[in-house]
Amino acid sequence: NSTLVTDKLSRPIKDLRISVTDQCNFRCSYCMTAELFGPDFPFLQQKELLSFDEITQIVEQFAKLGVEKLRITGGEPLLRKGLANLIRELNRIHGIKDIALTTNGVFLPKQLQKLKESGLKRINVSLDAIDDHVFRRMNGRNISTEPVLKGIKEAMDAGLPVKINAVIKKGVNDSQIIPMAKYFKDTPVILRFIEFMDVGNTNGWSYQSVVTKKEIISEINRFFPLEPVNKNYQSEVADRYRYLDGGGEIGVISSVSDSFCGNCTRARLSADGKLFTCLFAQKGHDLKKLLRNEKLSPKQLLMELQNIWGKRSDRYSEERGKNPISIADKIEMSYIGG
Ligand code: GTP
Ligand code: 5AD
Ligand code: SF4
Ligand code: SF4
Repeated sequence: NSTLVTDKLSRPIKDLRISVTDQCNFRCSYCMTAELFGPDFPFLQQKELLSFDEITQIVEQFAKLGVEKLRITGGEPLLRKGLANLIRELNRIHGIKDIALTTNGVFLPKQLQKLKESGLKRINVSLDAIDDHVFRRMNGRNISTEPVLKGIKEAMDAGLPVKINAVIKKGVNDSQIIPMAKYFKDTPVILRFIEFMDVGNTNGWSYQSVVTKKEIISEINRFFPLEPVNKNYQSEVADRYRYLDGGGEIGVISSVSDSFCGNCTRARLSADGKLFTCLFAQKGHDLKKLLRNEKLSPKQLLMELQNIWGKRSDRYSEERGKNPISIADKIEMSYIGG
């Protein structure tokens, strides 16, 4: 029996992105700069994190509101101990049809078997360059592409569909668009280029550093002709294209030049239990407090979630256009989970 709800712009809730840790082994310049996220950075303490049981209780209520798709993110989600146990529990929840993971891929080989057994359906791996020098620079930790490519290969061998996320920054890795397209063409892997977004307060964003969907597609099209394909489902963030020669499919996520707030059916849960109704929301709703301190019953939690979503009117990317809207303190991507 679901209790469906829509927000003020008539958008239902269908996806929940769950961050399971704010820590990461990478320091990507567009997400967690090495300068700001140094050894003294106050990452969340273990006791501040939602337990697997608490996450499960929250998802059970979200499922009643119409959530079908879960995405596990971070930080780097594979740094959270026993992650497969969480996925197994989430997979049992009535109404949940799709559980996916977004990871940098380095720890995949070690954990793949357990993840697959837990019911994980698919994996998105962040990889911003195929050239080793460019990649080492972009991840801020001098890590080679080698462990990531190994993770991708093993995930495919295990039968899990894989997509690659490449965030493109002008003058930093736009040289990689064609080499990456070439590398993944004629494979089942779906490569997706992502416009650099103004998330967080620390990545020095300006519209000048964005390579737009139009630019990306016209560049690839010069080498490998493409045609657009319909979205798999209405709220899919990526625009899809396929190679005319049958070499497979690519995607572009154009949150800056061509925003998609009108179809946004996503909510985000931070590792310490705050619920955000937009990637750019300034404040979260403290679900951990409601569960741990105020001991809400499942029914009360359901009503609370319904109330939060019913009041939602976020559409940051549409309002921003080419100019960043000055928000005093934006939420960091590594905390809210992309
Ligand atoms: P699929 O389910 O495989 O289509 O994955 P996804 O694209 O929904 O998730 P993923 O974690 O792979 O994210 C890819 C990119 O899309 C990241 O840069 C995200 O920050 C961005 N993204 C995902 N959802 C939203 C959203 O609601 N708003 C904005 N602005 N960006 C989003
Ligand atoms: N702009 C666009 N995408 C970003 N990601 C992280 N930071 C940004 C940003 N500033 C991407 C990561 C990962 C996904 C969850 O979000 O590369 O693939
Ligand atoms: Fe880590 Fe992903 Fe952020 Fe890179 S984009 S620093 S891999 S959380
Ligand atoms: Fe959704 Fe906010 Fe992203 Fe728009 S900017 S698509 S409302 S998360």
